[in-house]
Amino acid sequence: MLQVLKLLLIFVSTVHGANILITYETARRSHQIWIGELAQALTKRGHNITVGGVFARALPESDKYHPLVYEGIFITHYKFNKSEHLTSSPLRRMYLNHEYNWAICNRTYHSKGFNELWNYPDNFTFDLILMDITFGPCLYPLIERFGRPYTIGFTPSALTPYLSEKFGNPSYSISPLLDPEDPNASFLYRVYNYLFTKLEILFKSHVDTLSLQYLANRMLNRTFNFYDLERSISLLFVNEYPFLNEPKSLTPNIIPIGGLHIKKEEELPGILNSIIANANQGIVIFSTGTDIQQHIFGEETKMNFARAFDKLVQKTVVWKDNIDDDEHPFRDKPSNILIHKWIPQNDVLGHVHTKLLITTGSTLSIQEAIYHGVAVIGLPIYDEHHKNIQFILDRNLGLKLDFNNLTEENIYETVNRILKNPIYLENMEKYAWKFRDQPQSALVKAVYWVEYVLRHNATQGADFLTPKARFLGSFKASYFDVELFLIIAVIISLIVVVKVLELVLNQVKKPIEKKNEKKKQ
Ligand SMILES: *[C@@H]1O[C@H](CO)[C@@H](O)[C@H](O)[C@H]1NC(C)=O
Ligand SMILES: *[C@@H]1O[C@H](CO)[C@@H](O)[C@H](O)[C@H]1NC(C)=O
Ligand SMILES: *[C@@H]1O[C@H](CO)[C@@H](O)[C@H](O)[C@H]1NC(C)=O
Ligand SMILES: *[C@@H]1O[C@H](CO)[C@@H](O)[C@H](O)[C@H]1NC(C)=O
Ligand SMILES: *[C@@H]1O[C@H](CO)[C@@H](O)[C@H](O)[C@H]1NC(C)=O
Ligand SMILES: *[C@@H]1O[C@H](CO)[C@@H](O)[C@H](O)[C@H]1NC(C)=O
Ligand SMILES: *[C@@H]1O[C@H](CO)[C@@H](O)[C@H](O)[C@H]1NC(C)=O
Ligand SMILES: *[C@@H]1O[C@H](CO)[C@@H](O)[C@H](O)[C@H]1NC(C)=O
Repeated sequence: MLQVLKLLLIFVSTVHGANILITYETARRSHQIWIGELAQALTKRGHNITVGGVFARALPESDKYHPLVYEGIFITHYKFNKSEHLTSSPLRRMYLNHEYNWAICNRTYHSKGFNELWNYPDNFTFDLILMDITFGPCLYPLIERFGRPYTIGFTPSALTPYLSEKFGNPSYSISPLLDPEDPNASFLYRVYNYLFTKLEILFKSHVDTLSLQYLANRMLNRTFNFYDLERSISLLFVNEYPFLNEPKSLTPNIIPIGGLHIKKEEELPGILNSIIANANQGIVIFSTGTDIQQHIFGEETKMNFARAFDKLVQKTVVWKDNIDDDEHPFRDKPSNILIHKWIPQNDVLGHVHTKLLITTGSTLSIQEAIYHGVAVIGLPIYDEHHKNIQFILDRNLGLKLDFNNLTEENIYETVNRILKNPIYLENMEKYAWKFRDQPQSALVKAVYWVEYVLRHNATQGADFLTPKARFLGSFKASYFDVELFLIIAVIISLIVVVKVLELVLNQVKKPIEKKNEKKKQ
């Protein structure tokens, strides 16, 4: 922490305490964890930070940190069945996401926290808004409400094709709803991926955007133009790091700050510390993260995990589950298994005894595992999980378990394979080294860019960083229209040439044929 502070102090401060709003509508705790790091760093730089979001109170209130809780969203979040994503087609998943976004947004507009913010005095202004736009435009009305201050969008996920398009970034990637594309994928499969990705972009930028705009108009009693508000977002912060995601081109208005949330491990609290310090045979962490509760497994599957872990006599298993130890189905739990409602995952991962993380494959967990050099077993459920776990498999950094085949034998064998074969940890170590070797930490970079926008009066989209393509549309910007025109022109000219040749040949042939006929007679 001290190191980070020192680094932050190196900047010559030319921006005096600005009034900054940070806001997200989702009930995924990971979003608070990620942006919370930046919020803290900004308060240390003397800015006045207001955080509006479900978990805003995760950090203590102070004279520089003002949480506004959008309450009740969690209930809506848990009404949605996450395992439905496992069995649904990409098209259905696209629709499920839309339903989810709409319900979360509706709930946000109804929340007391949001309304408190909305009813701030008319003359109150924020100098800058940092807004989560991972799921779309739900919070755009705040841009207008506070007189269109500088706005930076952020997403704790990798760059999606939708956001790429919104910011005029030309690099093409396929929708996260599709299976990761094999470099040897067949042509037809690539056509399908391309069409689906374009469809998703169209769906999100029209159906999704307009339905949320309609909701906002009705709920907030104003007429918004979401397309117009979108233009005033200058920059996009994404949770990307070249070798963790596909290396790709990024326009200067997209700032990759992959692993923003990762800190150097700190000493573990009390009892956990002594247990982990003594576990010199190795530690396995089993956690489905902060966004998925373990009841998606059902009792039987949990018992399979418990029995498999029981067989790893020498190893200590730290299991994060949201129920208390004595409510757990595995009542006669052996002493090598610790069940906790919450574990300081980053700090446990950082302990030298930790060898393995069993995770769904959320981006934040994968980044933490790589940073600390811990092997991974993936249990992907939705969205980016599949892509992240494929990354792990392709590079021999871990293995995968199939959600529909979580038998005791499968779990035990997979865990054992990782613990027995050092190759996974060795590979992870190499990646950890690469990940840590950066010119500046992601946090320092993020703080720099926030203050850059404030310093340089980057009104209406830091226009000097915005590529033309953002407002031209990718169709025109990539000269696709011209290429299409040229291809059609070439085809038409070819057809004309062929037709003319045919005509000429026919003219030449006819007299010859007539002559031949005459000869026969
Ligand atoms: C800091 O933010 C809080 C909460 O939004 C606000 O009430 C307060 O007026 C702000 N302080 C300054 C100096 O702008
Ligand atoms: C969730 O969806 C899965 C797959 O469609 C289904 O098997 C399960 O019964 C659903 N759970 C609930 C609580 O509706
Ligand atoms: C929107 O949210 C409110 C408050 O939670 C709820 O009463 C209402 O039914 C929701 N609307 C729809 C269409 O779900
Ligand atoms: C906003 O208006 C109120 C009363 O209308 C006034 O007391 C207050 O000083 C104003 N605040 C600012 C920042 O101008
Ligand atoms: C793709 O095909 C080439 C040649 O057939 C092969 O060498 C390579 O391993 C394949 N790559 C993948 C990822 O399957
Ligand atoms: C909605 O806005 C109009 C015009 O600004 C106003 O007359 C009306 O009272 C508002 N309605 C509500 C419910 O706030
Ligand atoms: C479950 O896993 C076992 C062992 O890996 C395998 O033999 C079996 O085919 C799998 N079953 C399904 C339905 O995938
Ligand atoms: C920022 O630029 C806008 C438009 O160019 C101008 O109206 C505004 O006064 C400037 N603000 C500051 C603080 O320089």
